[in-house]
Amino acid sequence: MPVVRFDSVVKEYSSQGAAVRALDDVSLSVEPGEFVSLVGRSGCGKTTLLNLAGAMDFPTSGSVLVDGQSTTGLADAQLTSIRREKVGFVFQFFQLLPTLTAAENVELPLQLAGQAKVRQTALERLRLVEMESFAGRYPHQLSGGQMQRVAIARAIVHSPRILLADEPIGNLDSTSAEVVMTLLRRIADETQTAILMATHSLEAAAITDTIVTLRDGRIAERRAVA
Ligand SMILES: Nc1ncnc2c1ncn2[C@@H]1O[C@H](COP(=O)(O)OP(=O)(O)O)[C@@H](O)[C@H]1O
Ligand SMILES: [Mg+2]
Repeated sequence: MPVVRFDSVVKEYSSQGAAVRALDDVSLSVEPGEFVSLVGRSGCGKTTLLNLAGAMDFPTSGSVLVDGQSTTGLADAQLTSIRREKVGFVFQFFQLLPTLTAAENVELPLQLAGQAKVRQTALERLRLVEMESFAGRYPHQLSGGQMQRVAIARAIVHSPRILLADEPIGNLDSTSAEVVMTLLRRIADETQTAILMATHSLEAAAITDTIVTLRDGRIAERRAVA
């Protein structure tokens, strides 16, 4: 069963009274362990697609299934629980909390979900991204690439079914970008987490399994990487 499935999805926003169609008849599915890159120029709908896949929002028409469950018609509390249990997010600007250490940032989602004794899990995830020795550092004491590795550890701390990454290397130098891409590739391969990543980098897209090109809210091309 696909981890994420879109069927004929339309997403419209209203902007100053006019409807903006951000996604137009998008059908897509992502399998466990599949690493998909979403490419296309700014404004083509990448972030909108990630938000729908992550139950941050729901479609205007069509359906979005996350791990088999439709997000349409769900109450906020139900959308929140899908996000907490099934989805991890990584952002271009990391979004770590500056007043918390790396380990505290990573364990926060588990604490918010009401779990106790979460430090061990946080340290295991930091080990996976090779940041365990930086567990006690604050974000301002880390490089961009190191902050993104901590953010990835946080995004997978609850073993989500899908990891959504919105331009995760958009703010990194090429060496850090390569480290982050290698990590994401390893997470998909070793944990069977599906990854959906928006990127402007064709080099990064080349190490994913599938490249989906969006144009004006529509899928222009979906191709398997050789
Ligand atoms: N909250 C919103 N309200 C109104 N329009 C929006 C909103 N979010 C996105 N859009 C519009 O939807 C389209 C797709 O945006 P987005 O998904 O952010 O594209 P991308 O991430 O590829 O740059 C754009 O035309 C954008 O202006
Ligand atoms: Mg975007």
